[in-house]
Amino acid sequence: MKIAIIGVGYVGLVSGACFAELGADVYCVDVDERKIAQLREGVMPIYEARLQPMVKRNVEASRLHFETDLSLVLPLVEIVFIAVGTPPDQDGSADLSHVLEVARTIGKSMDSYKLIVCKSTVPVGTSRKVKAAIREELDKRGFGDVEFDVASNPEFLKEGNAVEDFMKPDRVVVGVESDRAKELLTYLYKPMQLNNFRVLFMDIPSAEMTKYAANAMLATRISFMNDIANLCEYVGADVNMVRRGIGSDSRIGSKFLYPGCGYGGSCFPKDVKALIQTARDNGYEMRVLNAVEDVNARQKKLLFEKFDRYYNHDVKGRKVAIWGLSFKPGTDDMREATSLVLIQQLLEAGCEVSVYDPIAMDEAKRRIGDKVRYANDLYDAVIDADALFHVTEWKEFRMPSWEVVKRSMNNPLLIDGRNVYDLPDSFGFTYMGIGI
Ligand code: UDX
Repeated sequence: MKIAIIGVGYVGLVSGACFAELGADVYCVDVDERKIAQLREGVMPIYEARLQPMVKRNVEASRLHFETDLSLVLPLVEIVFIAVGTPPDQDGSADLSHVLEVARTIGKSMDSYKLIVCKSTVPVGTSRKVKAAIREELDKRGFGDVEFDVASNPEFLKEGNAVEDFMKPDRVVVGVESDRAKELLTYLYKPMQLNNFRVLFMDIPSAEMTKYAANAMLATRISFMNDIANLCEYVGADVNMVRRGIGSDSRIGSKFLYPGCGYGGSCFPKDVKALIQTARDNGYEMRVLNAVEDVNARQKKLLFEKFDRYYNHDVKGRKVAIWGLSFKPGTDDMREATSLVLIQQLLEAGCEVSVYDPIAMDEAKRRIGDKVRYANDLYDAVIDADALFHVTEWKEFRMPSWEVVKRSMNNPLLIDGRNVYDLPDSFGFTYMGIGI
């Protein structure tokens, strides 16, 4: 089966490589010529475990191709996935200009049946707009009798675990409005049925909504737990115990219940905002989600507040170290990362900041420039520090030599935004977690 995937961003590239791995003939298309040239050379635009060898293997097997001109690819394929970005607009709603631009490009050169599938996270109603844009271009060219279908197939992969998530999903959600589209997508996902998962077919608006509802639900769990954690501190409870206590209730379940210094990344913040905005456009206010956002914004500021309170608001000129910059381990992505909020607060307060991250150093240099010191490793970062902030729970930070860390620091104050350390008192650190 021949398919095209438009947009070699996170979702597009992972999906393209995985479909090729499953035996499909995949054409990945992007207007960014540099990116495409690099991909042909085997250079990945993002860091993602298992992705690079998978791309290489499938390019060598001629199942995965990288192209810049959609009009040349279109005649070769039956299914076209749209996987371009939907960045937030100023008011938080998803910017659909890239998606609709692709739709128009398809309409401009299509001359036989195609199934166009939205994989980008798009607000309810977007597939209808895609359909209208294609139809308009076809009519302009006098190709109004060419048939096509649209479908929605949102992606639930997590950064850092994307290949695994794609290959072994809990479920695949597909919104269709014709039998032909349903048959094509059933066939495309057939090789994966061996992994015993379900393809859930539904109408298109429900599929579009499912993606937002899932991300909003997960973000809600995290903000809810962050609120509980903060209260635990006031009443002398330990949120780790509380988490285990409620997580073992099968109605609640144990995943995504970890309190911390706020959720980041490209999906939760963006999708929660977009859903709030979709509701507003329809005259409805999502009160729970407004609170989810508030709690998250406050949570990102908590690490600095703990530090500031410890030093009685006398922090000017103090040296601090930050372990972890990406929004979570396993990725160099810093979009909406808590580290950015913390660094800004520290710099505004006149602190000297040293940072270290196993993967995201280049990304940090691009975003932050020379306002902080980039340490060579985790021990280098803590030299003379008055506080160490643990912001992203990379494995590399799990079992450092605490003796060395303590000896290097000016004052062994450890502020753990991810609650991963269980330091015995003998190490002599002052330890602060979230909700413990
Ligand atoms: C998320 C969704 O999980 C995925 O299904 C969707 O397709 C895209 O958005 P991703 O953003 O890659 O994926 O990361 P995820 O692992 O979900 O983490 C998001 C944020 O939540 C991170 O900042 C993480 O640190 C935080 N988090 C996660 C918590 O604070 N506590 C938790 O218990 C889990």
